[in-house]
Amino acid sequence: MRAAILTAVLLLAGSSTAYAGNYLLSAHGNTTYGVSRTSMPGYSVGNCDNCHEMHASQNGAEPAPVNGAPSPFALFAPNFNTAKTTNPYVLSDDYCFYCHSTTTDGSLQNGGIDNHNFSYTFGGYNASNVTGIFQMFNQASYHNLYDIYQFATGNAGSTTLPFSSFFKPQSNPCDACHNPHIVRANRRHVDNPYYTPLSKPSDHSHLWGDDANETLAALTDMYQPPYYYGSTVTFEPDGTAGTPAQQAAKMPDYISFCTDCHNTTNIIYSTTIQHFDPNTGTVTTGGNLYKIDWFSANGDKHGFRVADSNTTLADPNTASLQAPYNDTSLPVNANGAGFVLSCMDCHEAHGSKNLYLIREEVNGKELVDGLASTLGYNTTISSPNDIWKLCVNCHQVYGGSISQTWYVIHHVNPDAPYKNPTRCIGCHGTFGWTGEDCQYCHFHGGDDSILLTINPSYYTGRRTF
Ligand code: HEC
Ligand code: HEC
Ligand code: HEC
Ligand code: HEC
Ligand code: HEC
Ligand code: HEC
Ligand code: HEC
Ligand code: HEC
Repeated sequence: MRAAILTAVLLLAGSSTAYAGNYLLSAHGNTTYGVSRTSMPGYSVGNCDNCHEMHASQNGAEPAPVNGAPSPFALFAPNFNTAKTTNPYVLSDDYCFYCHSTTTDGSLQNGGIDNHNFSYTFGGYNASNVTGIFQMFNQASYHNLYDIYQFATGNAGSTTLPFSSFFKPQSNPCDACHNPHIVRANRRHVDNPYYTPLSKPSDHSHLWGDDANETLAALTDMYQPPYYYGSTVTFEPDGTAGTPAQQAAKMPDYISFCTDCHNTTNIIYSTTIQHFDPNTGTVTTGGNLYKIDWFSANGDKHGFRVADSNTTLADPNTASLQAPYNDTSLPVNANGAGFVLSCMDCHEAHGSKNLYLIREEVNGKELVDGLASTLGYNTTISSPNDIWKLCVNCHQVYGGSISQTWYVIHHVNPDAPYKNPTRCIGCHGTFGWTGEDCQYCHFHGGDDSILLTINPSYYTGRRTF
């Protein structure tokens, strides 16, 4: 134990100069709003010792939290509780929670840290009642910290990412996505990706997003930012009316960030994922995640693959899109081009009251197109059956009614997949009539091949996501 402390002290002393520059630019090293633990009076704001305990005692007693034994990396508490395979978490399950929580939840940072959802900070949706990273991870869906830890240590799934170069058995799952010595405070400068909090697993020692070639604008000119909450004239991430290219340049390239892990190569196991099994009609919990192909021409239509378009159709808006995506001057209608969405247009990064980390607010409105109470639905996605509550925020709602909408899109529109259907029961005996079975066909990588088993003559093979 003593040897462990000594090694850590030497390491800290030896690397302080190497850290100096980027650390001082980081949120943690900031001398005004950086780290400052309540149990460390007299230590300056931003001082490494607020996170690392060089001596493990101050005036003869260990400062809070008291763990009795030295922790890896000379941190003030153990980094991660590997016995905790699912939420709900308590503060001591993850070292970062000790500070990234509200004062009511027990934060040890002076004043606590009121971090908010992506849809709040960059989408303007301040009605959400989740405050602090700790609360975010204690919701219905969340990036399961144990699964991330298992993935990064190579104990589950498989990956070619260079985790072994930085992720140790004692490491913290948050550090798969963040580097605590360089993270910056984007929320204090929502229009400036120079302040990105992110580091890609494939490049952990650098920030991701702080260079001009690491923004969404650098990745693609087909990105249309969603509306800012409550507006039909201003956009994410800062609620201004900039052009798509101007707005995209204000954001880190989240697509490349998320697909560092969620791509076509990595195999990712999830303890908590809910998958719908079309063969049995039941939902199973746990399994390998769908692989995601966002980049290729054969991948997802919300990614770089072009939505089906046919310029001879009477309705050129073949994807039945709402504003701002329905603008005929925008690329969706030109053959060979199409919108590319960002993962953050639909997902949160840490957790959500909805399944699959789906945002509470999308494209300027609460789920169900902002019409939940008018239409008599709640806004929560609590089973795979509920994902339609997301689609209607960007795709058109016909005749003011949800079931009319699904009818028009699938049976009536010029490009509807099942026009003039017969043998209704062949599909609806399986799907039901209430518009609740979208998950048979709509998911990352999906098409309508379920019809090959239940009603083959209607199979179109069209990609449905
Ligand atoms: C916000 C809290 C925080 C602050 C502030 C902080 N560190 Fe760390 N440090 C950590 C964490 C967490 C780890 C463990 C990283 C992991 O999970 O693998 C760590 C690990 C280290 C290590 C082990 C080597 C490594 O990088 O894995 C060294 C050395 C280190 N820190 C030095 C410093 C120095 C020097 C400073 C001040 C300039 C500092 N730290 C400030 C949280 C912090
Ligand atoms: C799978 C990757 C991933 C993991 C794991 C992850 N984060 Fe994040 N984090 C992100 C992304 C992406 C953002 C930027 C978008 C946002 O603010 O939600 C972010 C933003 C943040 C922010 C800034 C929020 C703000 O107010 O702007 C904090 C603080 C943070 N993360 C802390 C944590 C902590 C603590 C953990 C572990 C308990 C963690 N993160 C785990 C991806 C991750
Ligand atoms: C000693 C308290 C403390 C610990 C422990 C701590 N942080 Fe922080 N963190 C802070 C403070 C203070 C800020 C600056 C908050 C602000 O912007 O007002 C911050 C900011 C951040 C930010 C930038 C977003 C923001 O809110 O400014 C990220 C990302 C982040 N921390 C991640 C982590 C991760 C990951 C860990 C665990 C490895 C961690 N922090 C541990 C105190 C802490
Ligand atoms: C148009 C909205 C939308 C966008 C954009 C989007 N997703 Fe999703 N995502 C969903 C929906 C709906 C689900 C639930 C259905 C499913 O599992 O595919 C989901 C599920 C997931 C899952 C769980 C997969 C599983 O096995 O069930 C992961 C992982 C994921 N998304 C990652 C991403 C990443 C990474 C990106 C960006 C490259 C992204 N998503 C972009 C809507 C979206
Ligand atoms: C460090 C690798 C890594 C990165 C980067 C990463 N993820 Fe994940 N993601 C995982 C792992 C591991 C799981 C399985 C654990 C789980 O389901 O929570 C997962 C699960 C998910 C799920 C399914 C969660 C559920 O249980 O329903 C979604 C959705 C998701 N990720 C979206 C994203 C988005 C969006 C980003 C970018 C902001 C992202 N991920 C970045 C590793 C990563
Ligand atoms: C954030 C906005 C947004 C959300 C939410 C969204 N979509 Fe889309 N969707 C789009 C855009 C934009 C396109 C056009 C992509 C292109 O131009 O290549 C599209 C295209 C599609 C297409 C391809 C249509 C065609 O003609 O080829 C399908 C199918 C689709 N979406 C289904 C869904 C489903 C199902 C959901 C809900 C689970 C959903 N979308 C949620 C924005 C969204
Ligand atoms: C090839 C499969 C298929 C066949 C055959 C089919 N439908 Fe559909 N229908 C769908 C799909 C998919 C949807 C959209 C999902 C949903 O709403 O359940 C849909 C939606 C509907 C809806 C809207 C239901 C709601 O409340 O959301 C109505 C009404 C409908 N179909 C009527 C019919 C009638 C009448 C027939 C026979 C003349 C028929 N369908 C044949 C696949 C089919
Ligand atoms: C039997 C498979 C199947 C089921 C079940 C199904 N869809 Fe579809 N859906 C499709 C196909 C095929 C398309 C056409 C994709 C294209 O345009 O190439 C489509 C298109 C869409 C689109 C894109 C809009 C457009 O005009 O192309 C949306 C949004 C959509 N469906 C929502 C839903 C919702 C919501 C449900 C559940 C209520 C549902 N779908 C159920 C097969 C299905």
